[in-house]
Amino acid sequence: MNELQTAVSERAATAAPGPRRVVVGVAGSIAAYKAPFVIRLLRQAGHQVKVVATESALRFIGAPALAAVSGQTVSTGVFDDPAAVEHVAVAEWADLVLVAPASADLLARVRAGRADDLLTATILTSQAPVVLAPAMHTQMWLNPATRENVAVLRERGLRVIEPDSGRLTGEDSGPGRLPEPERIVSQALAVLQQEHRRGDAVEEGRGGLLNGRHVVVSAGGTREPIDPVRYLGNRSSGRQGCALAAAAAEQGARVTLIQAHVASELLDALPPSVSVIAAGTAHDMLHAVREAARDADAVMMAAAVADYRPVSVPATKIKKQAPAGAGRASGPMMSIELTANPDILAGLVSDPPRAGQIVVGFAAETGDDDGDVLFHGRAKARRKGAHLLAVNAVGEDLGFGDVPNAVVVLDAQGSEVARRQGSKKEIARLLISLTAGLVNGS
Ligand code: CTP
Repeated sequence: MNELQTAVSERAATAAPGPRRVVVGVAGSIAAYKAPFVIRLLRQAGHQVKVVATESALRFIGAPALAAVSGQTVSTGVFDDPAAVEHVAVAEWADLVLVAPASADLLARVRAGRADDLLTATILTSQAPVVLAPAMHTQMWLNPATRENVAVLRERGLRVIEPDSGRLTGEDSGPGRLPEPERIVSQALAVLQQEHRRGDAVEEGRGGLLNGRHVVVSAGGTREPIDPVRYLGNRSSGRQGCALAAAAAEQGARVTLIQAHVASELLDALPPSVSVIAAGTAHDMLHAVREAARDADAVMMAAAVADYRPVSVPATKIKKQAPAGAGRASGPMMSIELTANPDILAGLVSDPPRAGQIVVGFAAETGDDDGDVLFHGRAKARRKGAHLLAVNAVGEDLGFGDVPNAVVVLDAQGSEVARRQGSKKEIARLLISLTAGLVNGS
């Protein structure tokens, strides 16, 4: 056993006691040749595997190879053995459904709820978590149709692993490569581990502070278009929001992260149980947050939402005015008329999508001639009325990006509840435990 395989089986040992049953779906992609490696790693980690391949997968890899490596016959069609109602039997057997590779066509069919072969019918029937590892050409991965399919699938709670970037089948390269089998298996095992922990906690009536709760977190900075190539943005990285999402998931919550322009490395590092929804502008975020918050126990607004947006956005690029004359410091003036965006946080307080939900905000402050960071924070706490407001100082070297943070947490009256200095992860854990206390009424 090599180092990687040892790591995977060690992880499996802590992931879930005893063998688990994994349906490995294989769709039609050139990367289907890597499926046997995924199957072998799963079996070496002690799990049982049943392979369900699509017709087109079998054009890339033979059923005998898949059967040999999985130790079971390979099923394809819903009507291979109608009396056995195989899609129901397979779906009920599975503790996890892992599709590697998942082609663009498979993602589209699953999104549409199709059930025209055994794999899609199994996914539609199964109550087990579903992990999809896409592999396709970069243009197909980046096509809006696929982007939308992936977003909808994630919204529905299916885990879609980000593909790797690199050399594709042809000369070109970009995102769309099937991740290495080790990454696929370790992400799939992480999902099993999480489900296992959640199951145990529910059975024993203990566990995470947010077991069975739904937490919505917003992260990143919105961008308001000025014209087709320019936007008004801010320096938020989304790190604090991602840390909050991870800390909420750690406490057993179902988490929906509404992200505006968060780097894909940060999104990739999230626990697979976090559903991610993209919302690029303040308006997109308003709709996405309110929709997700309809059944949420807590909503945490860590996103830096633009307060204003251009009144009108031309369909064509705005051209530069005549340049300044030689030696003149300034040329013709240019101005963009702005209009206020809705205040999402204040709206959640005044008109909550679900009665009794806990609302948490952030206040990014620099302090000015009128008062220091905390003075402005207290005023904002009273103005916004969120149950908790985490006030932090921001500036060139403070608050944004991969830097430590210091926050003072205030209640809706502006009174101090807690203060903490530390990494974004530590701040996130503090805020999640304060929020869980309010959600659980303690
Ligand atoms: N926020 C929001 N909608 C907006 C602006 C901000 O929901 N249109 C939320 C942020 O997500 C954050 C909190 O309000 O949780 C405070 O954001 P901040 O930028 O500090 O405050 P502003 O309301 O924008 O006030 P100002 O810029 O004047 O400090």
